[in-house]
Amino acid sequence: MIKLDVIKLEVMSIHIGAKAGEIAETILLPGDPLRAKHVAETMLEDVICYNNVRGMLGFTGTYNGQRVSIQGTGMGMASIGIYINELMSEYGVKNLIRVGTCGAIQKDLKIGQVILVTGASGDSNMNQLYFRSLDFAATADFDLLLSAYHAAKRLGINTIQGTIFSTDNFYDFSPNRWDKWIEHNVLAVEMETQILYTFTKKFNARALSVLTVSDNVITGESSSSFDREQTYDDMMRVALEGALSLEK
Ligand code: HPA
Repeated sequence: MIKLDVIKLEVMSIHIGAKAGEIAETILLPGDPLRAKHVAETMLEDVICYNNVRGMLGFTGTYNGQRVSIQGTGMGMASIGIYINELMSEYGVKNLIRVGTCGAIQKDLKIGQVILVTGASGDSNMNQLYFRSLDFAATADFDLLLSAYHAAKRLGINTIQGTIFSTDNFYDFSPNRWDKWIEHNVLAVEMETQILYTFTKKFNARALSVLTVSDNVITGESSSSFDREQTYDDMMRVALEGALSLEK
């Protein structure tokens, strides 16, 4: 019979197996846990893996000598909502930066474009239940946004700033689904930011989503894996340097 690990008494939260002090105050949040591993291996030094519960890998290391963590969140607001709550309430995480992809809904937005997300609309039942059908203005932390903007300028990485739409439903086939959102200048669709910008406000933490356009929902364009690597690197550097220069 396979011997299961005894539950470690020092473990502090339900879904994250880290001990006190193992997670940095600043954390990057990709949806894909293997992306977290790749970034930890290629961009960070002195790395430890602090979590593998449910395969949702989390790492802490240093970037240019500053301590930083990176944690996979899974897809969708239900999943990221669990991780960010535990990161803030149990581990005292203060700066949370989502790094992920989005589908552009403006036809002239190109694959690989990096977006600094100022605010998020959405269709999530999670938010509707939480605020009893009223609306909450889910906005980025201004200082983190400004810091990422300046970091991108220093690095020579082009960004645009604007709002996105967070959906619970990747596969929605309704015709004209995006017309109103396009008309209101929403740039793209993804599945996590709105709840990130909501829960972080409750915990007095800073949040920002830095996204890369991986496909264009309107034109049907999508990215090759090579482009993805390059543009993902740009997004990671903007997120790391933006967040860490705020700490200095
Ligand atoms: N929809 C939702 N989330 C996404 C998409 C999309 O088209 N592309 C990347 N993340």
